[in-house]
Amino acid sequence: MRHLITPLDFSVEETEALLDRADDIAANPKAYASCCVGKKLATLFYEPSTRTRLSFEAAMLNLGGSVLGFASADTSSASKGESVADTIRVISCYADICAMRHPKEGAPLVASLYSKIPVINAGDGGHQHPTQTLTDLMTIRAKKGSLSGITVGLCGDLKFGRTVHSLIMSLSRYTGIRFVLISPKELRLPGYVLQEAIVKKGLPYQEAATIEEVMPQLDILYMTRVQRERFFNEEDYIRLKDSYILDKRKMAFAKPDLCVLHPLPRVNEIAPEVDDDPRAAYFEQVQNGVYVRMALILKLLEVEPC
Ligand code: NCD
Repeated sequence: MRHLITPLDFSVEETEALLDRADDIAANPKAYASCCVGKKLATLFYEPSTRTRLSFEAAMLNLGGSVLGFASADTSSASKGESVADTIRVISCYADICAMRHPKEGAPLVASLYSKIPVINAGDGGHQHPTQTLTDLMTIRAKKGSLSGITVGLCGDLKFGRTVHSLIMSLSRYTGIRFVLISPKELRLPGYVLQEAIVKKGLPYQEAATIEEVMPQLDILYMTRVQRERFFNEEDYIRLKDSYILDKRKMAFAKPDLCVLHPLPRVNEIAPEVDDDPRAAYFEQVQNGVYVRMALILKLLEVEPC
């Protein structure tokens, strides 16, 4: 039985095959409409979510399956003190597969050790978010034709932004990747990601303090929200929250074929005036999130399209 806890749980070949499947689902969604009849997905969300939870649910419904779950820790037995290990033993009796989001780093990994069903990490604290990465990869591949030979700028909260950690770990396995890390000093990429995914592999990277100074080089600009819920004090959050705001003026420095991504939700970091720019791809990215999750459910349940 396979789980998806970090993006490295799938090889590059498996990841590419999953993205090919997601492309096929996008082209022929009806062909997949009854692949998971009789199967159940449990969504165990101990932290807020709009896209991840609902796209998982939409994905299972599109496959003909059913969904059950909870959307906050308060409405689950976690509020009574139940451990993740016990909860997953119980959920294993009700569902065929589960997606778990948890504020504690490593909680989905712990769940996978006690589970009888595949566990998908839907975001664990400030650590990893592998299914957002699949969404990002599908979008980048569609826009650029390949995941190799691109300069990728990541901007904002690189410290707590789990989507950034997973995306860098995954992209660093492709050839010709260059990373440009744009953040305030306090929100720089954690050492374990920088060392393991970039430095030890000898990949070229640059750190920058402003978007303008690096914009002309970028093929991808991945904007992120400052992760208020992971800060120790509100004053620091308020001081840093508007460090970067992408607007039309900054877009004028970019290549004509730049691709702007954002895992969403956005707060202030992309001005709404950018939404109409053809280089803004963040709502397309949302749509792709359903297709990759459909492909992922099929893979982990070992279901072949009927
Ligand atoms: C992200 C997350 O939860 O990490 N959202 C998402 O899943 N699309 C990004 C964020 O909350 O800033």
